[in-house]
Amino acid sequence: MSYQDSSGAGGIAVPTIPCLFTSPPPIKDNLPTESSVLQDATVKECLPFLTNSSNFHAHVNTHGVPHLDRSRHVAFLHKQLGKLPPQFKAADPSRPWFFYWCLAALAVLGEDVEDYRSRLVGTVRPMQNQGGGFAGGFGQMSHLATTYATVLALVLVGGEDAYETVDRRAMWRWLSSLKQPDGGFQMAVGGEEDVRGAYCAAVIISLLNLPLDLAPDSPARASGHTRLFDGLAEWVRRCQTYEGGISAKPGVEAHGAYAFCALGCLSILDSPTRSFAKYLDVPKLMSWLSSRQDAPAAGFSGRTNKLVDGCYSHWVGGCWPLIEASLNAARGGSSPPPPEKQQPTPTAGRPSAATSTAALFSRDGLIRYILCCCQDQSKRGGLRDKPSKISDAYHTCYVLSGLSSAQHKWDLVTTRADGGILDTDEWAASPFSEGKQIFDEEDRVKPVHPVYVIPKDKAEAARQYFMMKTGF
Ligand code: FPP
Ligand code: ZN
Repeated sequence: MSYQDSSGAGGIAVPTIPCLFTSPPPIKDNLPTESSVLQDATVKECLPFLTNSSNFHAHVNTHGVPHLDRSRHVAFLHKQLGKLPPQFKAADPSRPWFFYWCLAALAVLGEDVEDYRSRLVGTVRPMQNQGGGFAGGFGQMSHLATTYATVLALVLVGGEDAYETVDRRAMWRWLSSLKQPDGGFQMAVGGEEDVRGAYCAAVIISLLNLPLDLAPDSPARASGHTRLFDGLAEWVRRCQTYEGGISAKPGVEAHGAYAFCALGCLSILDSPTRSFAKYLDVPKLMSWLSSRQDAPAAGFSGRTNKLVDGCYSHWVGGCWPLIEASLNAARGGSSPPPPEKQQPTPTAGRPSAATSTAALFSRDGLIRYILCCCQDQSKRGGLRDKPSKISDAYHTCYVLSGLSSAQHKWDLVTTRADGGILDTDEWAASPFSEGKQIFDEEDRVKPVHPVYVIPKDKAEAARQYFMMKTGF
């Protein structure tokens, strides 16, 4: 298959799109099931977008890939941060999520979000409970998901006012109360314990530089745990399933969203060069992750036999930079770091990688799915699950994060010393440069930190601010 242009009528170059992305899958199971019927319908709805025969793709580049409709997506996101219509009533306890999704997506699109600082601080302050953590709204119970989203939103707008909104001592006590005797975290006091909890807690603890000792009344002390991270990696390990993917909690179905949570958590607990191989069957996980992508609609699905969906561009697509960087660094094959970044445990200087991990997934396939199928190119803007779905803030955030993962390569420039629990590994992004680039430079989005899923400078600024604090 080639990307060569053929000359169309009037001498205008008509892009030739590889047939992998323009024809139905070559192998078809002859036994129709509910799943196969839905799969066929999905291919049918995506093909016109992948081949540019839908009406919306006025502007495609020489590879037949539509441009990123940046200004419409930006306008969509600002609108989602304003007053929402009555049908959003049920989403009221998810307001912090809207703040995170919209601010993160705006930042990934290169927009300055600091102007939202005072509004955000004024809005989330009453959602913080005295007992620690943030609820989804005033008078509601603190929850790890809304706390995670609020903390990330505050980090995105940045600045002392935003950082100091968080009552870190109360947060530490509350997180200690969520820590369970088996090592995991509940999402709320008395609530479900799952791998989202493991990831959200690890992100909050590391970004806010909270003390790692458990509060004296933590239920986890009953089983001898004394630290917030004790037994957490072992708990995450129990979530890997027979398929190789990761489930919400031990013993249930593997799902891409939980794979990202598991890898993100393990990347915080120790350098991924060590923690992935120590706690997971990495080849099996890679095989499961690879199976989430097929053609012609080469985005990712979230689980076996389910449909492609734009949000998995991040949940599954975001696993690849972590795995690639961990494998490359472990083999000594990362890009040469700048000289000032070569301490304390340089990954440079080790033998060169015999093989590259650059092609663990089809970046081109994912980029095509995102730019062809996930953009609402009508006046509404925003990004979506698939062409038949309406754009929303959640998909806009995670589709753009996935686009960022596909457009960049992440390297672990330095890895922390063994046992350095909260020392951050040094991550560095560069434009992915192997093969032919199928998107135009104007359509590149900002690099998203592979662990924190916000621009790297925002995560680092917050870490630096909180590292200056000793205790509370
Ligand atoms: C199934 O939805 C979706 C899940 C089982 C996972 C949802 C979890 C997240 C999105 C992760 C949340 C992460 C944090 C950090 C709080 P479905 O059955 O509608 O979709 P499917 O058919 O694609 O599986
Ligand atoms: Zn989705």
